[in-house]
Formats: sequence, structure tokens, C-alpha cells
Amino acid sequence: MAAQQLDPAVEQRIETLLAQMTPEEKVGQMTQVDFSVISLENGQDLDNPIDQAKLDAAIFRYHVGSILNTPTTPNNKAQPVEKWRTITQQIRDTAAKTRLQIPVIYGIDAIHGATYTRDSVLFPQAISMAATFNTELSFLEGQITAREVKASGLDWNFSPVMDIGRQPLWPRLWETYGEDVHLASAMGSAYIAGHQGSDYSAADKAPTCLKHYVGYSYPLNGKDRTPAWIGERALREWFLPGFQAGIAAGAPAVMINSSEVDGIPGHANYHYLTEILRGELGFTGFTVSDWQDIIRLHTRDKVAASPREAVKIAVMAGVDMSMVPYDFSFYELLLDLVNSGEVPMSRIDEAVGRILRVKLQSGLFERREADLPVAGNFATEQAAAVNRQAAQEAIVLAKNAGDLLPLSKQASILLTGPTANSLSVMNGGWTITWQGNAEDWYPKQHPTLLQALQAKSAGKVSYVGGQRFGEEINIEQAVTAARQHDVVVLALGENTYTETLGNIDSLSLDSVQLQLAKALFATGKPIVLITFGGRPRLITDIAEQAQAVLLGFLPGMEGGRAMADILFGEVNPSGKLPISYPRASNDVTPYDHKPMEAFEMVQYQPLYPFGHGLSYTRFKTSGLRLERSRYRLGEEVKLSVSVENTGNRPGKEAVLVYLNDVYASVTRPVKQLKAFSKVALQPGERRALQFTLKPEDLSFIGPDMRRIVEPGEFNVMVGDESASFEVLAD
Ligand code: BGC
Repeated sequence: MAAQQLDPAVEQRIETLLAQMTPEEKVGQMTQVDFSVISLENGQDLDNPIDQAKLDAAIFRYHVGSILNTPTTPNNKAQPVEKWRTITQQIRDTAAKTRLQIPVIYGIDAIHGATYTRDSVLFPQAISMAATFNTELSFLEGQITAREVKASGLDWNFSPVMDIGRQPLWPRLWETYGEDVHLASAMGSAYIAGHQGSDYSAADKAPTCLKHYVGYSYPLNGKDRTPAWIGERALREWFLPGFQAGIAAGAPAVMINSSEVDGIPGHANYHYLTEILRGELGFTGFTVSDWQDIIRLHTRDKVAASPREAVKIAVMAGVDMSMVPYDFSFYELLLDLVNSGEVPMSRIDEAVGRILRVKLQSGLFERREADLPVAGNFATEQAAAVNRQAAQEAIVLAKNAGDLLPLSKQASILLTGPTANSLSVMNGGWTITWQGNAEDWYPKQHPTLLQALQAKSAGKVSYVGGQRFGEEINIEQAVTAARQHDVVVLALGENTYTETLGNIDSLSLDSVQLQLAKALFATGKPIVLITFGGRPRLITDIAEQAQAVLLGFLPGMEGGRAMADILFGEVNPSGKLPISYPRASNDVTPYDHKPMEAFEMVQYQPLYPFGHGLSYTRFKTSGLRLERSRYRLGEEVKLSVSVENTGNRPGKEAVLVYLNDVYASVTRPVKQLKAFSKVALQPGERRALQFTLKPEDLSFIGPDMRRIVEPGEFNVMVGDESASFEVLAD
């Protein structure tokens, strides 16, 4: 892959600055601290939480290059937009008084919108954005997020997550775009394009950060920050391409895997961080450690005998900036290593040059104040409409026996279950707070599912049987009420979490939710099962008994309204699963599995397969045609297919194009998604779609670990149809 382009004028300024900087100033640039380091004690709710003396120390004494996070740990939380502008202005003003006037870059986790700015537009989480199969929505999410981050005076977003979600137990599965490489690459690239534009120094654009490079998402035991065992071929086939796509889309920063792959901690992995990331992927931006992870090379991983050795290992492996984040130990230790010659100045210059490059390309040297006004750029109606559409397109209708849905507005509905009446369960972690569980701080203008149903219904909507997680579920009361209504909407799922706090030992739903479901089935009333949550918790038994199943995952602040829109048929569902929904806890086979995972006695039999999602209308794809049946190596393969709405409602359909390399020297997945397109069709309307498969779409990682295309037969599959072509040897 070609290296990211360098601008000679920027390179010249980097040279000049490096020539002027002292070792202290350079090492400081590589240091990133948490907001608490510059904060007044318990300053979270003060109008201005900055302790100027601490800020002065961070900037004049330690020359820090970056600050992150929201005020202030513990219990950090979203802050008003104007307060953010005050905070970031004070930091800019202080940095402007330094000798070389090098700006601080402020980083924030704005992972589904500006998480830490109060009343920002909070979109569906990544797993739900992936379920839309709509890259335009991902682009718009990126665009709106960048605007809201910049309106908050913030500089840099720790997003998108380009880890591939192939381990459903992992408590950050929902931060990924799901199990498929092509879908994740397409959604992530579109997000970056929206967030950065063609020039992220623009007032309404901001740099992104790909994370968490690489292999973080695939812990063997499913627990956060535990080892992955990924062979080199699997790494190249499944885990690197998302990052490669993000780099090609122009992301200038990469955050490092907090855990380890094949025994080497992410932060100590020279092969990944330098040989592959720089040498092969051509990345020219900078890498940032994850939270405390250099320190953990000593305290947790024991690959370093001292904190000092940990710094040396990490920097020499290729870590450019350390998210220390609570002290200046990294600065002190690295300075000592530089002064003693154990870390060469050339490596420091390289790291600092990369950081300065991003600061220069962000326009931070020129920007002396937040140059994007709040009015017109924050919480706009246009952004709310995009968010609403995203939530509507993210929800997956998995089952609709006897066309129970949509419900009549006159129907009398009993709504029950722990996810029925709270906003947090639809938003997940990284919402207002890190864990997203501060329900009382959620903006009240967004309805819960209960409130949305009540607002839309022309009949009776009753609600009983345990309101939220932590409250007792009263099964008896729910059963009595169910008997008095036409239909039961049963809202189950997960409470909020992220990272290690979300670890679980089993995908099973907690037993009280299952008991509630079983007691309600016994009433004989029709049941609509709705789930919210970040992971596919097991619903096999209850989904079989429910007439309809809607998988909500984490649809964000508009989730309640969107779900009500779908229940009453005001919106026709169009979401599709970005993961295989497991039937049982150890049923973790992805759709793009190997032939032997579905051979003879073995089956790929998830509860719902990747790409599954129903509609209130019907779509038919037909007429799959390849331009030719034979191609030379290196040629593009063009194909066309028609999709028609054969039902009687308008609807949207994502058409998915899969490929299978029939015989190859390395076992190939039975199919792999290579292209998709989402179209809106009126009843009876038909659309012809064209797709182009590029040579790399036909490629795989060959026996010698290099990407190759092998001549031979290939199958293309769209809907119920397939077509074959042959690639000829040269
Ligand atoms: C997470 C990252 C996040 C960072 C900064 C870490 O604990 O793993 O995803 O960007 O904290 O908040």
C-alpha cells in the first residue's frame, strides 16, 4: 500500500521545530495526561475546573503534548458545551505562552457522537451503525460528530474502533462494526471521510484515531484485556485490513491494543507497531498508548523489570505518545533514557515529528480559539434527523410469525421487562459517563421505549413488572396484566457496561428475565420480544416462542422512538445483522467460516445468520449477471443484479454480494462479503445494481503469508442466486 502523502511545507516546519526543541520539550510532546492532572480537587461541577497552577506545571515544567478525558475522575461525566470551550481555551492560551508555542492536542472518546459534551447528538453505537448497512449514515455520523467535537473546542477523537467483532462475549463487541472485514472497513472509512473531510484543519473537521491496533477484540476467553492467539495469516486476513482501510481513509493516529497477541503485549510489539504498521501499511501518523499501558508492561505483564524499562521497551517498539495518564513518570523516565543514550534521539525525533505533523495538519498552530461557533453546529435539527434515521435503520426484525407486526395503533399493549423504560440500556457505555449507567443524567427530551409507545399509541399502553435493572421484576403482576391486553411487548437484554467491568462468563440472559418470558408465554398472548444490549445474549428458547423478535442492540438516544416507529409500522425495518447471532454459548462460528465448520455432521447454525433481517415488505433479487465468465489475473469483475420490492409497502433493502474462491492452496471461507448497497424501493419498484470486484477482493493470504490471487473458479452469491467465473493463469 502506498504511504500516506506528506506535505513538504509541513515537513519543513517539523524540521525547524525539531531543531529548536530541547530534549525536555520533545519528551513532553510524547506525554499525554488525564484531565485530573490539571484539575481542582473535585472540580467536576465547578464552572471552571482547571487548577491553573497544575496546568502551568503540566505545560511549562513538563511540556505535555496532549490532555484527554472529561472532568474529572472518579465519576467523570459530560460537561456543557460552553464549559468545554472555556476549558480548552484556557489550555490553548497557556500553551501559546510557551517558548515555541506548540499547541496541546486535546483528545476525547466521542465514540457515538460527542459522548462527553452534554446534550450532544448520540448515535447508535458502532454495532448498530453496522446493522444499517448504510455507509452514508456512517459518513454523516462522522461529519456531525466532528462538528460537535469541534464546537466543544476539542481537537481529536479516539474513534473509530476498527477491531473486528468475532468474539461475542467480549464486553466491547458493540464498539466494533461486527464480525465482517468488508463491512467494518466500509463503515469505518465512511466515518473517517465524514469526520475529517479532505482536510481536517477545516473548522468543522477533526482528526480520528483508529483503535485498538491490533487483535484486541479477539480474547480467547472473551474477557477484556486478556490474551489473543492470532496466527499471522488470520491477523493479515481478518484483523489488519480494517486498520489498513482506516489508514487509506487518512486517519492520522492509531491507539494500541491494551492486551497481548501470541504472548507479546501490544505496547511491546515492534513487529506490529513498526515493521507492519509503518513498513507495510505505510502509516505516517502517530501511535498513542492506551490507558496506563506502558506502566502495565511492568506491573501486569512483567515483560519489563522496572517502570523505566517499560518506557524503553514501548518507545523502541514504536509507541509515540504515552497515555500515562495520571502523572509525569513517563516524562521523567524517558528523559533519563534519552540523556543516558539508551533511547536514541533519532527515535525521539521520529515520534515527536509524527505528533507535530498531526498538530500542524489539524491547524492547531494557527487556531488560537475554538473557531467553530456552537450555534448551527451543535445539536441541530438536521443532526437529530440523521440520528433518528440511523436508529430506524439499525433495528433488526429477526422474526415476524403470522405478520404480527406492525401492531395496530389501537391495540392494547402491555410493555414489560428491564429495558422497557430506560435510555441508558439503548445507549450503552461511553454515554455521558464511561460506563453509561448514570440514567438520571440522561437528557429527558429523548423518550424511553415506554414513553415513545405511549406517545404514539391510540390505544392503551400499560407498563408493569419491574422497571429497570436493579429493580425487582414482579412476574405475577406482569402475568395478570398480560391477560388484560391484546399483545405483550417484552423488553429484555443487558444493562450498560464497557471494558473490563462488562466481563461475563456466559452469554445466557439472567434467569429472572427468562422466567418472566416463560410466565408470559404461558398466558397464550402474542408476544413481541425486543432486546437491547451490546452483545447477543442467548434468546434461543424464548425467540422460538415469541411471535416477533426485534433486535435493538444499542440504537442510541433515538432508539425508543425508532422502536415505536417500527412496532406501529410508521417505519419499515431494514437493519441486518452485522454478526452471527449465536444459538448457544459456545456457538461462536462466524458466517465466513471454513468449509470444515459446516461439513458432514457439523453445521453453521446460529439462531440468526450474519446479514439476516426482515422487512414488512418483500424483496426479490434476481438476474445476477457477470459481465464475462473468464478474467485474467489483475482484472476487475463487474456484475449486475436487480432488486425488486414485491410487497405492498415502501422499504429499504441492503443487497449483499458474497464471494467464494472455490479451490485454493489455503482453505477459504465458504463465503465472504465483498460489496453491498442499500436501496429504497416503492412497492413494485425494481432497481438494477452494478458492482465491481477489485483484484484484491479475490485475494487471500497465501502459503508464504503474502497476499495473492490464485487462478481458478470463483462463485458470486447474491440473495438466492449464484454465478461462477474463472480467473485464468497468466
Ligand atoms: C480505552 C480506550 C479509550 C481510552 C481513553 C481506555 O481505557 O480502552 O478505548 O480511548 O481509555 O479514554
